[in-house]
Amino acid sequence: MNNRLPLDKYMKDFNDRLAGELSSLFPDGWTVPESLRKSMLYSLTAGGKRLRPLLVIAACEAGGGDFEAALPVACAVEMVHTYSLVHDDLPAMDNDDFRRGKPTNHKVFGEAAAILAGDALLTHAFYSVVQSSRKHGVPADRVLAIVEDLAEFAGPRGMVGGQVADMEGEQGLTSLEQLEYIHVHKTSDLIMFSLIAGGRIAGVSDSQLEALRTFGHHLGLAFQIQDDILDLVGDETKLGKKTQSDVKQQKVTYPYFIGLEASKQRVARLTDDAKAVIENAGFADPKRLIEIADYLMARDH
Ligand code: IPE
Ligand code: IPE
Ligand code: MG
Ligand code: MG
Ligand code: MG
Repeated sequence: MNNRLPLDKYMKDFNDRLAGELSSLFPDGWTVPESLRKSMLYSLTAGGKRLRPLLVIAACEAGGGDFEAALPVACAVEMVHTYSLVHDDLPAMDNDDFRRGKPTNHKVFGEAAAILAGDALLTHAFYSVVQSSRKHGVPADRVLAIVEDLAEFAGPRGMVGGQVADMEGEQGLTSLEQLEYIHVHKTSDLIMFSLIAGGRIAGVSDSQLEALRTFGHHLGLAFQIQDDILDLVGDETKLGKKTQSDVKQQKVTYPYFIGLEASKQRVARLTDDAKAVIENAGFADPKRLIEIADYLMARDH
C-alpha cells in the first residue's frame, strides 16, 4: 500500500480492501450451510477497527514485505479476533447485547448458532493463513511458523488462557501481576501474533521479530487498559458497545485496581516504551507502526 498516505486515509483504503476479502469468505464450490455463512459474515463484516489485520500489514511493510502476501494472514487474525468477541459476548461469558454497533451474534442467531459461528471462524482462520503460501508463494517454512504461532498465541497458552483467567478473576482476585497476566494473554497475545506474522512474511531478522514481539506486548497491554478505561468513561455510540460492562460483571480492571489517572499514565508510558523498541530495531520504514501506536493511545473507540 502507499506508505506516503496519511494514516487515516491509509486505514480507510486498507479497511475497504479487507472488507472485500472478508466477504468472499470461502473458495468457490464449497458447500456451507447458508445460516452459518450468514452468522459468520454478520459479525465479521459488522465493522470494528481492524487493528490486528492492520498490524500484520504494517509490520510486513516495515520489513519491506509484500502487502498481497500478507492479506490472507490479516484476514485470518480478524477471524480469530471476531470469534473471540462472539464468544466473549455470550450469556455464559460477559453477557453483552451490543457489539460493533449491532445486536450481538447470539441475540440475532441464537446461542447455538453463535457458538458454532465462532468455532467456524477459528477453524477457517487456519485455512486462510495457508493461502499466503498457496496463492502468493510465501515459503512454506514461514507459513508453518505462522500456523504454529497462531495456535500458541490464540490457544491455551494465549488468548483462551487469558479469557479463562478473566472469567475466574470475576470472583474477586487479585494482584496486579494476575491482572497483567489476564490482559497480556486475552489481548496482547493476538496483537503480538499479528506483528510477528507480518514480520515473518517479510522475512525480517530474528532480532526484528523479537522487537515486534516486545512492541506488541506493550501496545497490547496499553490497548486493553484503554479498553478498560473506555468501559468506564467512553461513549457508547462511538464504541459500538455498551459501557459499564466490566462494572456489571464485577471485573477486576486496571482503573478498578490502580485508579483512572494512574491507568491513563500507564497507557502513555507503555506506548512510549513500545515506540522506543521499534524505533531502534533497524527497520527500513517503521513509520506506520509508530503512527499506529500514537493513534491507539489517543483513541476514543
Ligand atoms: C475488543 O477489541 C476486545 C479487546 C480485546 C479489547 P477491539 O477494540 O479491537 O474491537 P473491534 O475489532 O474494534 O470491534
Ligand atoms: C475481551 O476483553 C478479550 C477477548 C475477546 C479475547 P473484553 O471483554 O474487555 O472486551 P470487550 O470490552 O467486551 O470488547
Ligand atoms: Mg471479556
Ligand atoms: Mg467483553
Ligand atoms: Mg472490555
